[in-house]
Amino acid sequence: DEIDDIRTSLLNWYDANQRDLPWRRINETHDEIDTKAYAVWVSEIMLQQTRVQTVINYFNRWIDKWPTVHHLAQASVEEVNEMWAGLGYYRRARFLLEGAKMVIEEGGKFPRSVSDLRRVKGIGEYTAGAIASIAFKEAVPVVDGNVIRVIARLKTISANPKDKATIKNIWRLAGQLVDSHRPGDFNQAVMELGATLCTPLNPNCSSCPVSTQCSALLKTKNDSSALVTDYPTKVAK
Ligand code: ADE
Repeated sequence: DEIDDIRTSLLNWYDANQRDLPWRRINETHDEIDTKAYAVWVSEIMLQQTRVQTVINYFNRWIDKWPTVHHLAQASVEEVNEMWAGLGYYRRARFLLEGAKMVIEEGGKFPRSVSDLRRVKGIGEYTAGAIASIAFKEAVPVVDGNVIRVIARLKTISANPKDKATIKNIWRLAGQLVDSHRPGDFNQAVMELGATLCTPLNPNCSSCPVSTQCSALLKTKNDSSALVTDYPTKVAK
């Protein structure tokens, strides 16, 4: 069906086109699933508010210094702030440290489900979904700005993308779409598509793996005044 076609197209595209990012290599260099979860956590927190290109060096230095959650739990606030210098929003670094201490206090095993992850300081619905799907293969969605844009275009959602109800609807749609065999890759494929092809301005629809399933692109073929960039609807900040 259509949902299966979207999954297959996105995963095939991701397999061929994904960026080589250090947190995606952790599987190859560390065999511990908790270490993978830790790396996904650190990278996703860094990626909130900061561009991928900037995060790469910070991530590598962080993992060199604190390769596991056990190492991080031993760090001081000063060391963590020093490592974070330049990234901004220092609260994120403190939450990582507090979260690491909490994980260690509770036995050192990384929480494995979205609901348990949500109890860790600084882990919201997005980060919980990213860790659960990427590290633990839980078939849960993630929704960030990129995902909102991709889904708003795929489904021609014209509701205000800043409204709670719209965002909730997009979480629901993303949950229907997520591939249950490869949830982490699927979620990263959608984010990657939003970051590289399905961009806010000048989307590259001719290279898009889901162009034939995209309702916004279809609309432009039937309505000469329609644009893919009409979605998501532009609203005042
Ligand atoms: N942006 C934030 N997290 C990401 C990820 N895991 N893959 C691609 N883009 C992202």
